[in-house]
Amino acid sequence: MISTFKKDLPPLARIWLWLGRLLGKTLLLLLAIGLLGWAVAWAWFAWQHRGPVSALEQIPPGESAMTQEVIQTAVRIVDQHREPTRYLRDAHAKAHGCVKAQVLVLPQLAQSLQQGVFSEPGKTWQALIRLSNGNAYPQFDSIRDARGMAIKLLDVPGNPLLDNRQQQHEQDFVMFSHPNFFVSDVAEYRQNVAAQADGKKVMAFVPGWDPRTWQVRHLFIALATLSPAPDSPTRTTYFSVSPYKFGESNAKFRVTPDPDNCPAYTLPRQNQDLPNFLRSALNQQLSTDRVPACFLLQIQRQDANKYMPIEDTSIEWREQDSAFETVARITVPPQDFDTPQQNLDCDNLSFNPWFGIEAHRPIGGINRLRKAVYEAVSDYRHQRNGG
Ligand code: HEM
Repeated sequence: MISTFKKDLPPLARIWLWLGRLLGKTLLLLLAIGLLGWAVAWAWFAWQHRGPVSALEQIPPGESAMTQEVIQTAVRIVDQHREPTRYLRDAHAKAHGCVKAQVLVLPQLAQSLQQGVFSEPGKTWQALIRLSNGNAYPQFDSIRDARGMAIKLLDVPGNPLLDNRQQQHEQDFVMFSHPNFFVSDVAEYRQNVAAQADGKKVMAFVPGWDPRTWQVRHLFIALATLSPAPDSPTRTTYFSVSPYKFGESNAKFRVTPDPDNCPAYTLPRQNQDLPNFLRSALNQQLSTDRVPACFLLQIQRQDANKYMPIEDTSIEWREQDSAFETVARITVPPQDFDTPQQNLDCDNLSFNPWFGIEAHRPIGGINRLRKAVYEAVSDYRHQRNGG
């Protein structure tokens, strides 16, 4: 019946029908190839990223020479973005404010979590927190970016990790608002940051014609890290991204908002067209409305039988492999932080994952790199700013 019908059709209509069938089959074939490619890539990724992993650091050859190159590039970036009157940080140049805070170690903390600055349940540490945008120079808060939180616990007993900071009794926790980093290791960071400093943003992830050098997954991480601004710096979660010692174990940490432990508060909507609305939001809550902000400080311990590597910061440690455990509560009390003197002091502060004690020693390649770079950049900007 149908074939009789087709025979009755004029030749042009029959050609159209034939083309339609061809197009349908081609689309089905492409879909099948796509699905197969996706399944193969997924299986390959799972095969490559399976445990167990090493619980120890593994330092590749040539890392310290690469570190020296990164320092030169970082100083070049600081020079490129200096303001008329001040040299800023190489990263996280713009602060929303530095605030005073209290960090209370959970009174009922489990024995196995009582490590380093968390070894005394019920203890309250006085702290400073700097909240920032990730970009290398100040820009409107509405522009997609990572957001930073750097915490400094004060008067921490014990031997500081850095030989030249023996008088400085602090424990810093340096975080941003995404769980993984857009590079794996020092070699990749050196190549990536050099391309970015030259303004070649695509070359940072696609350095050449050879597809084996393309870092497509890392490009997606970089794009995801640049996220829309939260309503306030108190309304987002900050991750350590890289691992640290936690007593004898290895761990990552994060700080997450904990509104349930603070008085109920609705932040009035800020005008997000203003360049510094994240500072305004902080100001509104702490200074105008006099409402504290609350966070939880949480630890995620490494299970080396799972794929939780130390030497690859592009890998997020999955919560299903190891859950975050709360070790302390952070309270930022109402305060007037936005004064010219306090803002200048805030700019002059230095936070560094290596400002701390052995129990929280930074580990892994990206942290070893940060040891040299933070200090070099901090010294450079302080010298240029006159002390
Ligand atoms: C693991 C991922 C990283 C995180 C979570 C992170 C986070 C941060 C944060 C929050 C700040 C601002 C600190 C402040 O408020 O003073 C900062 C500053 C800085 N970061 Fe990172 N960062 C990471 C990786 C890196 C890497 C790989 C480098 C380069 C090697 C780097 C270089 C710097 C520098 C030079 C500063 C400014 C230091 C100063 O002048 O005081 N960061 N970082």
